This record gives sequence, structure tokens and C-alpha cells, in this order.
Amino acid sequence: MKKTAHAPSNIAFIKYWGKKDNVLRLPLNSSFSMNLDGAYTITTVDFSPQYNRDTVQLIGGNFSAQEEARVVKALERIRLKSHTNNYARVLTQNTFPKGAGAAASASGFAALTVAAFEATGMSLSEKELTIFARMGSGSACRSIPDGFVLWEEGNMSENSYAHSLYPSTYWDLRDALVIVDSSMKKVSTTEGMESITTSPFLSQRLKIIPSRIERILNACKNKNLTMLGEVIEEDCLDMHHVMQTQIPALNYWNNTTVLVMEEVKRLRSLNVDVYFTVDAGPNVHCIYEGKDESKVLEALQKIQGIETIINNKVTTGTHLIDQHLF
Ligand code: DP6
Repeated sequence: MKKTAHAPSNIAFIKYWGKKDNVLRLPLNSSFSMNLDGAYTITTVDFSPQYNRDTVQLIGGNFSAQEEARVVKALERIRLKSHTNNYARVLTQNTFPKGAGAAASASGFAALTVAAFEATGMSLSEKELTIFARMGSGSACRSIPDGFVLWEEGNMSENSYAHSLYPSTYWDLRDALVIVDSSMKKVSTTEGMESITTSPFLSQRLKIIPSRIERILNACKNKNLTMLGEVIEEDCLDMHHVMQTQIPALNYWNNTTVLVMEEVKRLRSLNVDVYFTVDAGPNVHCIYEGKDESKVLEALQKIQGIETIINNKVTTGTHLIDQHLF
């Protein structure tokens, strides 16, 4: 059977950086994110006896052998669970640059998991789907539920899953994703996390995270962007501090990354409530409320050296669509 899924990317306000189990992808801490409507993946999966191996293709780009092997592994887990023997053809399309810190693996494995299970004819609960997506790429579990999503770290596969805390309609937050460099990042998140324990600041970060999650939940409950934004920036800087003090040190920023952060702070000094966060790449996510859209976008567009801006609203989770890619 052939099925196609549409999965949003997500931006984490509390970041996932480090695993306590590399195979199951159990994270060292819980994380919290919102789904992004402008940066998404569409994936068609077809399981059929006519195929004699799995094939995995990306429209407008290429997967490395390593990336392809990771997708095939995910398909094997899905075959095992659904008692299917057929191989699959997978065709996928992103609306944004892969590997540039715009969370392509999140939307990619979310779309793959939902399309592939449906294509086997097996209906899993949302919780189970997030668990399977997590094993493909940790952050992918957060792209399956609606809107604002918490990934509970858990201590085994069954209780490390993601669920929605608020639907996408709850709060009109926006994310202007400023692409300052769309080329592929040099160190993948999976590889980068492997040396996390070499940072002397990891243990401090892990101690602080539960209180940060409390603050985030409180800010969301009250729809208080100032409270939320303070935590978002703290956690972003903290994660990059850990990255930069790992051995070997990981620096994902470039000069334009810093220019965008400075512009965000300048906007705040003019009473425009906007906050930055950066994932494992140089691109900057600027979080603000819909009422400030024109002020934020006009200012960001003027920054020297940026490539483009993907402006996002909060959106629903991964869902099936009728238009197949093949
Ligand atoms: C910095 O989910 O890409 O974006 O599980 O190894 O595939 P793997 O890692 P991945 O890591 C995302 C890291 C981050 C922070 C976040 O999104 O929480």
C-alpha cells in the first residue's frame, strides 16, 4: 500500500542535546517545542512485493549512504512491528535546506514513521508513533503531536514519548527562521552528541532543566512571551555553551548568526518582544507574537549577509495527505 504524510519541523524551546541510550535514542532530558508550518517534509512510502530492496530518494537532493542506512533501519523496525515482509520505496521532499539546523531529520523521520506504518495497514496510537519516530531521530517525536509539544525523557523506550500540551490554535506565536547559511552542517547532531560528556558544564545544564521546564509551562499557561523568551534564550545559550566546551569543541555559529542575535536584542530595546534560539547550525529562529510580524520581519530583512527568512506559524502535527509524490 502507498501512503503519504506531511510532517512539520519543530523548534525546541528547551533543547535535547545528549542521549542516555544511543540505540533507542533516549534523551538525557525532557524537551519542549512548537511545530512550524513553513518548514516541512512530505514523504510517500509504498510497500510492495515488486521491490527487491528498500530505495530511499530525496527530491532535489541526495541522501548520504549513512542517511540512507538510517532510513532503512527505521523501515526494518516498522516491518518487524507490523509483520510485513515487503520492501519499500520511499520518496521525500523538504521545503527547506537539509542539515542546516532547520530540523530536517525531525520532520523527515516523523513523516516517514506515519506514512510507513499507514502503508503497512497498521494503525498505531499517537504515543506509539512518537516512540518509533524517536528511534529514527530524537527530535522527530516532537513533530507528530499538535502544536506545543513536550517530549518526556523517560527511562525506557515505552515511556520516552511526546504529547501535545496545547493545540496550535492556542497561542499565535511565530518563528522567523533566518537562514544565514543553507549549506550542510559539518558535524551531525548524532555525532555531536556523542562527545557531550566531555563538557564540564553538562551536569549543571541537566540540573537546571527541570526548573526551566516549569518556567516554560508557566509562561505558556499565562501566554507570557517575556517569561517564555527569557527561558528560550537561556536554554539556547546553555546548550551552545555545552557544545562549545565539548572535546572536540563544536561551534555552529557564524558572524551573521551573532548579527541576528544582536538585532533581536536591539528590537527588544525598542519594546518589540522577540527572542532568539539556535539549533545545531548557524541559522537563527526568532520567536515573536503575530501582532509584531511586520516590525520583526522588516528589521530582520535588513540584516547584511542573510540568505532568506522562513516565517512560520505554529501548526498541527504529522498527518496523512492524498497527494502522493509518485
Ligand atoms: C540541537 O533529533 O537531530 O536541534 O536524535 O541524533 O537525530 P538525533 O538528534 P536530533 O537533535 C536535535 C538537536 C537540537 C535540539 C532539539 O531540537 O531539541
